[in-house]
Parts: sequence; structure tokens; C-alpha cells
Amino acid sequence: MISGAARLAGVLGWPVAHSRSPKLHNFWLARHTIDGAYVPLPVAPENFATAVLGLRAAGFRGANVTIPHKEAAFAVCARVDDTARRAGAVNTLTFAAEGITGSNTDGAGFLANLRAHGVNPVAGPALLLGAGGAARAIAAELLALGVRVRIANRTPERAASLAAALPGIEILDWARRNAALADYALLVNTTSAGMHGAPELDLDLARAPASLTVADIVYVPLATPLLAAAAARGLRTVGGLGMLLHQAVPGFSLWFGVTPQIDQEVIALMAADIPAT
Ligand code: ATR
Repeated sequence: MISGAARLAGVLGWPVAHSRSPKLHNFWLARHTIDGAYVPLPVAPENFATAVLGLRAAGFRGANVTIPHKEAAFAVCARVDDTARRAGAVNTLTFAAEGITGSNTDGAGFLANLRAHGVNPVAGPALLLGAGGAARAIAAELLALGVRVRIANRTPERAASLAAALPGIEILDWARRNAALADYALLVNTTSAGMHGAPELDLDLARAPASLTVADIVYVPLATPLLAAAAARGLRTVGGLGMLLHQAVPGFSLWFGVTPQIDQEVIALMAADIPAT
């Protein structure tokens, strides 16, 4: 039940109809019998700042931000934390009395998901494929833990500009990605390759050491071709759905005052309408 005093939050995106965040947050709201709602907020880029100010004026507690607004969200904040600064982007806005604050929970959500799978993120060097916003957020949090991070990207200029933005990150030539696998404890696909309807990631795991953990941020399908290939070799795999769940926790907790749990019930609910392969 939503009363006149309900707490409100939502997700800003363009488009946003595909977002699974409303399903997740409203499940948690119901589980904790919180008087609140979390709604999709389709906002075109040119209206982003106006919409954020309007939501704040209308009493929203805050909002998540997804593609293509994460950099614009950074710009509307009066204050951002270190996670946002390192990522150069904001995915979680809170409308506080003193102004709009922003953080980026993507990298921490990725790490929390690794740990939930029993993987120690600081076990050894990490190789990230891709150089977009997700790569930056994940690389930033791994670097902050003291992990050695290399990125390999199909388009070298994008790898170079990410490396310029994140001191400490190293670049691996895209052409060397297969041969170099032996040097890493963790491989992360941050590209959209392997997503339902997109081409598969062009990667050969033949040189992967038995100790390699293979993580994918793609979660449609749940078992991407990369994860299936890794599992077939007996490697430990970490799918992308958990990152979506874990990145949502800090916002929910800030806006609604309860820290939600990620258990089998919520994982099964969120996986229910995603193809397995
Ligand atoms: P985001 O910012 O959300 O992480 P993005 O900016 O669309 O996403 O970045 C997509 C990433 O996936 C890029 O690193 C892109 O590589 P390029 O810079 O060479 O375009 C990568 N990518 C997409 N499809 C790919 C494919 N089939 N093989 C390799 N990399 C791919």
C-alpha cells in the first residue's frame, strides 16, 4: 500500500523500459512492508537536469541513473563521493537537505558479487576487456583495493583515454588478450559482446590457468557464451546478474532506511525472466 506519506525513488534512463531495477526495488519494498514506491523515469538527455531538480522539488528521496545519464548525473551533484569521482560518473543520487549527492555503486556492486561467489578480488592481477563506463567503475574499485589492473580494448584510443583518467591502470594490446591470460587471477568482460542479440566475445580460453576466475557483467543471457566456455574448462565463473543486485543495495538503504538482503528468493525472482543461455 502506498499512502500519502510514501517514500519515492526511481530510475532515470533513456530508454528505461528494459530496466529491471523497479522489479527489484519494489520486491524489497514489499518484503519489508515499506510505505514507498520505485518507478521508471524515462527522461531524454536534454531534459535530464530539469527532471532531477523536479524530482527533488517533488519530494523524491533520490534516484538511480542509467544509460545515457551517468555523466550528466555527476554534473548535477553538489557533492560526489570517491566512488563517483573515480568512476567519473554517478549511478545513485540522493536528494538531501544540503543538496544533491552522488555516488557510483557499480564497482562496489561488482566486488560484492565476486565475494558472494567466494572469489577474493585481491587474489592477483585482473584483466578487464572493454573501456566503457563499466570498465572504468570496476577498474577504479579494483585499483583502490591495490589490485594490479590491465585493460584491453578493441579500439586502442578508448583504452588510452581510460588509462589517462585512471592513474595506475595498465594497457594490454587487444591482440595479446588470449596469450596473456596465464598472467591473471581474474578476467572480466565489461563489453557488451555476448549479450543476447550481440556478437559473441572473440576470446580463446586455451591459455587460461586453472586458477582463473572469469566474470561477465552481461546478464542476458545468465550464462553468456564466455561463461559457458569457462565453465566447460572447469574455471570458476561469476555471472553479471549479481552485480545488478548488489549495486542496488546502497541506494535502497539510503532512500528507504533498510539494508536489503540478496538471497536465493530475490536472485530467483530476478533470473525468472532472463534466458539461461
Ligand atoms: P559502457 O560505457 O556502458 O560500459 P560502452 O561505452 O558502449 O558501454 O562500451 C562498450 C564497450 O564494449 C567498448 O569497450 C567496446 O569496444 P570499442 O571501444 O572497441 O567499441 C566494447 N565492445 C562492444 N562490442 C564488442 C565486441 N564485439 N568485441 C569487443 N569489444 C566490444
